[in-house]
Amino acid sequence: MRICEHDVLVIGAGGAGLRAAIEASAAGARVGLVTKSLLGKAHTVMAEGGIAAALSNVDSRDDWRVHFADTMRGGQYMNNPTMAELHAREAPERVHELEAWGAVFDRTPDQRILQRNFGGHKYPRLAHVGDRTGLEMIRTLQDHGIHQGLDVHMEFTITRLITDGNRVVGAFGYDRERGGFRLFRAGAVVLATGGIGRAFRITSNSWEYTGDGHALAYQAGAELIDMEYVQFHPTGMVWPPSVRGILVTEGVRGEGGVLRNSEGRRFMFDDIPDLYKSQTADNEEEGWRYTQGDKEARRPPELLTRDHVARCIVREVREGRGSPHGGVFLDIAWIKERIKDSEAHIRRKLPSMYHQFRELAELDITTEPMEVGPTTHYVMGGVRVDGETQMSSVDGLFAAGECAGGLHGANRLGGNSLSDLLVFGKRAGEAAAAWAGAHPRGISRAAEAEQAEAARRDALAPLERQDSGDGGVGAYAIQSELQDLMQAKAGIVRNRPDLEEALEGVLALQARATGVSALGNRSYNPGWHTALDLANLLLVSEALVRTALLREESRGAHFREDHPGKDEHWGRTTLVVAKGADGAMEIAEAPVTPPRAELAQIIEENR
Ligand code: FUM
Repeated sequence: MRICEHDVLVIGAGGAGLRAAIEASAAGARVGLVTKSLLGKAHTVMAEGGIAAALSNVDSRDDWRVHFADTMRGGQYMNNPTMAELHAREAPERVHELEAWGAVFDRTPDQRILQRNFGGHKYPRLAHVGDRTGLEMIRTLQDHGIHQGLDVHMEFTITRLITDGNRVVGAFGYDRERGGFRLFRAGAVVLATGGIGRAFRITSNSWEYTGDGHALAYQAGAELIDMEYVQFHPTGMVWPPSVRGILVTEGVRGEGGVLRNSEGRRFMFDDIPDLYKSQTADNEEEGWRYTQGDKEARRPPELLTRDHVARCIVREVREGRGSPHGGVFLDIAWIKERIKDSEAHIRRKLPSMYHQFRELAELDITTEPMEVGPTTHYVMGGVRVDGETQMSSVDGLFAAGECAGGLHGANRLGGNSLSDLLVFGKRAGEAAAAWAGAHPRGISRAAEAEQAEAARRDALAPLERQDSGDGGVGAYAIQSELQDLMQAKAGIVRNRPDLEEALEGVLALQARATGVSALGNRSYNPGWHTALDLANLLLVSEALVRTALLREESRGAHFREDHPGKDEHWGRTTLVVAKGADGAMEIAEAPVTPPRAELAQIIEENR
């Protein structure tokens, strides 16, 4: 087994991981950056429409306070207020820094960073690069990071954290090409592994997103929060079947795209939630004026929050007003009625969407409406962290980005993910470097070797089961059954009988997965990799279903048709998932942290 030594080990090389690695390295730490995939291939690129930051370049009324209040309202006040404050305050600086490192943003006529409208943001707030913002962010961070002297371990999967009591001191993993094992010694570990989207059938997430960081943290003794809150982005492709779930950026609606049902009606006008009534236009004309920058006008209803828009789409489809392939229509082509040279405008503002539909669906979005429907996109739930340092309840274990919980509460606003990655990636990297510097590792070689050996045995088990000739169970079949189960029983609209069925199903799959086997040997063996990821996917699914069962109300992204309203008790309660002494999953209720007086006042002033 090869051994690598770092002060800080960052697991995951999307936006949060890269930003954490850059910061830790700038603080003088020796940094290792592990990525399950190739560097640059991260879900960060799926945040296409922009980075939310109150730069006030397009509307001078914007500032961090309004961004903070919008984030809290969007999260239904379940957010960690410290994180929401730091995020709103620091996002502008992080965006300017990214620009200084080489990110090329679209510009206003007076050459400032251009900002566009997005759901739930009161003012145009999303700094963007056409509809490729996440890609530009990754490119920039990568370029910057590799000049910092990071040690990048590409195509490595971490299967276990090495601990010394309640402290993390390293990690064990394998390289996906050859199957070689590696022990990473580290003074601190930052988890930045992204989300859990592969637990569902229809998802914008690619194969990497199996809840690895969530599971690693949980197994090491850390707590998870908000696991019931999963974001279904309202607009994924629905046709052809091979591309179902691929993201259609909210930027389309930010640029004036509207949602219509099969009757041609803009159904989003039918149901405007009370929290957003004063900010939302109740007629087409006013919505269009807002899109065109009229400061007196209210936002079109297509720019309501994602949780609500996704549910409205489900309602249209269920009630028989959907598109031919089970979605609704998203129409940007209609703006030709309003602006000159709309084709060139659409192609300039939404180049990726133009190509995506042209190549994958043989459809020209400048002349025809798209068919779209909800796709699993993001999990608000994650590792419970300290709002300032991002350290979990396990010493030396940090989490940032999607695998950390707290910032977004019950629902994330679009564009707040990229700013989250930058703000809290930086904070995690800084704090991890400081922690590692101040707390030398003390684990004995024997204790470390014992844990590494146990991890090695577990990793080899699926291959050995096959060799033992008792057949075993294939990982793909279990993963596929899980995806169908979660999609059908724990998706956008939930109820007790479905969730109970989901729990029973997940537990049964967990039992089957203990006998999972993989054919072949350790080299180039995706069947083996899938077998090892499966435990994580099943674990996060169990956490999701258990918390969704407990939360008997509807709030943000968690909608229970058997409890359609909000309940005051649950509005004050967070659900904390942790491993019990007997190894079984335990869920505890904890109070939501109230905002301090100054922040409460900002919320009030911006209601
Ligand atoms: O629709 C989008 O461009 C996605 C953005 C996000 O998830 O933040």
